[in-house]
Amino acid sequence: MNKTILITGGAGFIGSHVVRLFVNKYPDYRIINLDKLTYAGNLANLTDIENKPNYEFEKLDIVDANAINALFEKYQFDGVIHLAAESHVDRSIANPMEFIMTNIVGTVNLLNAARNSWKDNMEGKRFYHISTDEVYGSLGEEGFFTEETAYDPRSPYSASKASSDHLVRAYHHTYKLPIVVSNCSNNYGQFQFPEKLLPLSIYNIKNNKPIPIYGKGENIRDWLYVVDHARAIDMIYHQGVNGETYNIGGNNEWTNIDLIHKLCEIMDRKLNHEPGTSAKLITYVKDRAGHDLRYAIDSSKLQSELGWTPSLQFEEGMEITVDWYLSNEEWLNNVTSGTYQQYYEKQYTKR
Ligand code: NAD
Ligand code: TYD
Repeated sequence: MNKTILITGGAGFIGSHVVRLFVNKYPDYRIINLDKLTYAGNLANLTDIENKPNYEFEKLDIVDANAINALFEKYQFDGVIHLAAESHVDRSIANPMEFIMTNIVGTVNLLNAARNSWKDNMEGKRFYHISTDEVYGSLGEEGFFTEETAYDPRSPYSASKASSDHLVRAYHHTYKLPIVVSNCSNNYGQFQFPEKLLPLSIYNIKNNKPIPIYGKGENIRDWLYVVDHARAIDMIYHQGVNGETYNIGGNNEWTNIDLIHKLCEIMDRKLNHEPGTSAKLITYVKDRAGHDLRYAIDSSKLQSELGWTPSLQFEEGMEITVDWYLSNEEWLNNVTSGTYQQYYEKQYTKR
């Protein structure tokens, strides 16, 4: 094995795609997946690679500094790709503290462990922090977020991610830790937990339940297929320049209501329903507190400097995604049983 790489949050949505890509593409890398297995983490996302000889799993909480230090001692990592986080804005509004602990304290624990482990020789080492476009705040109708856009986070989730981004960069400037950061737009695809807009809507349409649209459905997001995010992460991990930030986006903006109408058309076709059947489930509910109007990413730096482009058109990605959710009923039923039902009741019945 010529490199040992720690991937945190590898049992989550994006992390599982990154683990899969690295385990399959780099048989000579030893990939260690660290995950606490919160409600969002699920080892069933990785059954296709779990027995590969270059893959290992460690169930750990990044908030536990002693455990993190011991893990770095055990494996002597060459690199870290850090995705573990609390990731859902609505949960951050209901309970900010977990976001502060995991996203900020957990990130600093990893930075400290990497710094300590690499203190004698930082050559060839890399700490890659995965972040979000939400740190840049909210756009009006015009313009895009670039890597130079000033941070203006507005939810507890985005504020905790912004804080962790600043700390990662501070460790580069202060201690010369070799870091890269990327900020990506909204991802969609297989294995996304059904609290997020698209899988939640697919699940509800399938079960003939209302599709909750916050406010007037006019908020705009830029959607990227998760496998294209994983491909960008691979490129940035290997070719990104130390200390730099790269924006990743799909150049694919949709208002929430247009996106859900598009999904409804696909679902009607896949489920052999009359056109218009799914759209009848659309239900406008009370808006999210502090709901950011628009996110849009300028990813030209990544495209021109590293040659990344999305591999899929949005229509194709949506077809693949919907087909996957419809043919993985067991996965969907498992993750939506138990505590998720309590969250759903609390989040949506009060609206
Ligand atoms: P997710 O919620 O699906 O997965 C997060 C994973 O982190 C889970 O497996 C969870 O068990 C694990 N985790 C949470 N707390 C932990 C802790 N204290 N210790 C160890 N593991 C812990 O999230 P995701 O959507 O896959 O996002 C992954 C990363 O990408 C996050 O850092 C997120 O901010 C960022 N991101 C997400 C999106 C998106 O659209 N989903 C877009 C841009 C950036
Ligand atoms: P989400 O998937 O939570 O991602 P983020 O908040 O990180 O962008 O939400 C995407 C958009 O969909 C966002 O504008 C909020 C909206 N939304 C709804 O209208 N209804 C819902 O039930 C959810 C979960 C989100």
